[in-house]
Amino acid sequence: MSADLLQVRDLRVSFGRRTAWFRPRSARRAEDFVAVDGVSLTVAPDEIVGVVGESGSGKTTVARAIVGLVRPDSGAVLLDGVPVGPVGRRTTAQQRTAQMVFQDPRSSLSPRMTVAAIIDEAWRTHPSAAPSGDRTAALHRLLDDVGLDASVAGQRAAELSGGQCQRVSIARALAVRPRLLVCDEAVSALDVSVQAQILRLLVDLRERHHLAMLFISHDLGVVHQIADRIAVMRRGVVVEEGQATDVLGAPRHEYTRSLLDAALELSGTDPRE
Ligand SMILES: Nc1ncnc2c1ncn2[C@@H]1O[C@H](COP(=O)(O)OP(=O)(O)OP(=O)(O)O)[C@@H](O)[C@H]1O
Ligand SMILES: [Mg+2]
Repeated sequence: MSADLLQVRDLRVSFGRRTAWFRPRSARRAEDFVAVDGVSLTVAPDEIVGVVGESGSGKTTVARAIVGLVRPDSGAVLLDGVPVGPVGRRTTAQQRTAQMVFQDPRSSLSPRMTVAAIIDEAWRTHPSAAPSGDRTAALHRLLDDVGLDASVAGQRAAELSGGQCQRVSIARALAVRPRLLVCDEAVSALDVSVQAQILRLLVDLRERHHLAMLFISHDLGVVHQIADRIAVMRRGVVVEEGQATDVLGAPRHEYTRSLLDAALELSGTDPRE
């Protein structure tokens, strides 16, 4: 059995040009748009792997395939060495293993639900992860884990700041005791100072809970702060992959160099600093 928690093997995902609510896979046509074209990735337990690439390079599509929200044309997603299908075909344990944290914390939480109800919903979806004892105490422990005060429990998502909402999203993911967080642009919608706080929280959580992460971002500076290894995607393909220090310090692919130059030009500071 492989030591990797996540393996993505030669994943290919295409989307139909025409909208149809149902189209069997056999009806996929040559003009379908190939968003992910043979991507392979691994994430070991406790490891944070960054995925960078320009808009439209297929990062979100890979993330959605990993958590089972997108059905690949071919290739495989393996958790603990076991191939897993879309959500409906996964065992509850497999569904719990990989949890996603989305970009916009406001739209990924129901604004009218209280924080307590949001977490309770996660426990109802995965009863095997629900606390057997005092739920309120467990809720407060969970909030404390993500740096939120217990008083937030009764507040509605709409009343919280962007940073607080993202902490709630992370708490919701943690509620089902995952082993892998798939963070898709999880700090991109936040102010720079809040970004830094959430990145620190994620690094902290990795240590406290032995979590692995696939951390997707278009921002090289952000990925540099958190990732052990980095995969660079372009047009549905991983063009370069390696230790973060190597990929950013001595990029082999011209596209990685152009991403670094663009980041430098945009911010005026070197993303590796
Ligand atoms: N459900 C869909 N239907 C049709 N095309 C899609 C769908 N989802 C993604 N695509 C297309 O697939 C390509 C890759 O999209 P994806 O969202 O994975 O890119 P991304 O790297 O996450 O970009 P961004 O940095 O903007 O989030 C894009 O061209 C996008 O338009
Ligand atoms: Mg995306």
